[in-house]
Amino acid sequence: MLMQPKIKMKVVGSDRDVGEVANVIADPVAKTISHIVVRTGDRGQRVVPLDQIAEVSEDVHLRCSAVTVSGYPLLCRGDYTTVHQQEVAGLEARLDVEPGEILIPVPEGDRDIPRRGFFTKFTVAINAVLALPLAYPILKFLIHPMYGAYDNTWVKLARADQFSDVDAPRSYRFKKTLKEGYLERTFDKSHWAMKASPETLEAVYQGKDLEFRDKNGDVYWVNRRNVPYIVYSGKCPHLGCGYKWRSTKKYNMAFLCPCHLTIYNIAGSVLTGPAPRTLDVLPVRVTPGGDIETIDVEYKAGLVGRVRVI
Ligand code: FES
Repeated sequence: MLMQPKIKMKVVGSDRDVGEVANVIADPVAKTISHIVVRTGDRGQRVVPLDQIAEVSEDVHLRCSAVTVSGYPLLCRGDYTTVHQQEVAGLEARLDVEPGEILIPVPEGDRDIPRRGFFTKFTVAINAVLALPLAYPILKFLIHPMYGAYDNTWVKLARADQFSDVDAPRSYRFKKTLKEGYLERTFDKSHWAMKASPETLEAVYQGKDLEFRDKNGDVYWVNRRNVPYIVYSGKCPHLGCGYKWRSTKKYNMAFLCPCHLTIYNIAGSVLTGPAPRTLDVLPVRVTPGGDIETIDVEYKAGLVGRVRVI
């Protein structure tokens, strides 16, 4: 039986290298892999049927040439979803893949049919024009730093006595309310909180307290490195997706972002994947009543440095 192709394996055509495996595509009914997605040198992603694979060793060897690969259809990302999104029970385990590594086709009826897409876009454009006066306060909030101070209100996340184990992060939801003029909207947000072991504290703080500064450079809070509670922003620093704490084959328990497969260790360091920085540590304090509180700071995604946006 063919060894299973894995993402990032080199793909070699019958005549030369053609790229690397970007994803595998599975048939959710048969629960088998049907295609691989090959990221080629021109940054295209070609959908290559499994029967073109001659052998999988260190690399994936194809029966066909590089020219044939360039003739296979480009991946249309909207036609596929991840297992994580669609939650096909047991598929990841059965196929020996990591979450997010595998794509499955979206049912035909749910795809974006061009004609339907035209009317959808037309309707969206009309609604956008009508909604502009209402959207203005929200847009103003989103570019908030240009208008006023950040909201440094403390938000209660958890009770300190809920943490019986160390290094066992849990996601905590809370409501965020935006007020602009006459408009008030409430959103669900979440951050990760945990009681950290001394090793994790050392890895996170590296022997220094962590200062948080406002846009004038003034310190508005300091996380003391001996306080054993850590809060991470619930947004992946790569592009802002939500991520999970879960077991992975290579790293055991880790934070895994299914969007582009960044994996972070318990101290928030990037183990693999495209994220440009560690997880964002947020201000944390323990109130005299034993509540774990944080300030809902949000940094711009995709940057190495931290630029606060909320
Ligand atoms: S958004 Fe998390 S890895 Fe891309």
